[in-house]
Amino acid sequence: MSDPTPLLRFTAVAPLRAEVAAWRLAGERVVLVPTMGALHAGHVALMARARSLGRRVVASIFVNPTQFGPNEDYSRYPRDTAADLARLAEAGVDAAYLPEVSGMYPEHFATRIEVGGLTEGLCGAYRPGHFSGVATVVTKLLNQVQPDCALFGEKDYQQLLVIRRAVRDLDLPVEILGVPTLREADGLALSSRNRYLAPEERSRAPRLHAVLTEIAAGLAAGADAGPLIERGRAALAAAGFEPVQYLEVRDAETLAPVERATRPARVLAAAYLGRTRLIDNVAVG
Ligand code: PAF
Repeated sequence: MSDPTPLLRFTAVAPLRAEVAAWRLAGERVVLVPTMGALHAGHVALMARARSLGRRVVASIFVNPTQFGPNEDYSRYPRDTAADLARLAEAGVDAAYLPEVSGMYPEHFATRIEVGGLTEGLCGAYRPGHFSGVATVVTKLLNQVQPDCALFGEKDYQQLLVIRRAVRDLDLPVEILGVPTLREADGLALSSRNRYLAPEERSRAPRLHAVLTEIAAGLAAGADAGPLIERGRAALAAAGFEPVQYLEVRDAETLAPVERATRPARVLAAAYLGRTRLIDNVAVG
């Protein structure tokens, strides 16, 4: 195997910006992949996509406290920086950006980005403040790194739309690209939180994707959303998902509720298996 590209490592903004500015001066396109670490094959696929889009790839690793609610898993969120850095080096990433919480949110920090509309339902209804935390940290990361393009996984579909909205509304000079969800062979979407699943829960987890796919197929065949959702909820309950926070069909761009798939639509769900909250979504058609 050839030697991996040496991975630069930054925790402060100024030297990272200087490096990125030098790349851009040399005409090199810079792609940012923001992550919270606990990197898995899905992230590696994001890095590979990033490499196909630009000469230089920066990956950030920052478990952002402001996007976790008080009863969520911030303190137990998996952290393994050494393994993450090894994965980034192997994936040919040029620079890892690992800001400190105190650098990202210094004393007297008082600004938040609120995106209206898109954040009101789905995960937004169950995770108050979450998308504001995401929009704020992503805006900061984009300003700090100043890439030409940034990649986000479609698994967090609402997040992707919220970020697109914020970037457009704030005229940030960056292209936002969504990357299709990478799945295990049995359909389970790759997620850092899958490692919380007990073996018996892991064996039931792919049912979430199966139900979403069944609903999408029904809609594509012209059926109404209501009865499909009802059947899907029953199937998830039978597979042990409890509670099912939402199982909905939404417009793929506006996230407005959809009864019939006359425009591009998305089926989205969030549900618990034991203590683990899983989210997933699929496109209709
Ligand atoms: O999707 C994630 O991992 C996070 O929400 C993100 C975009 C890195 C912001 O903290």
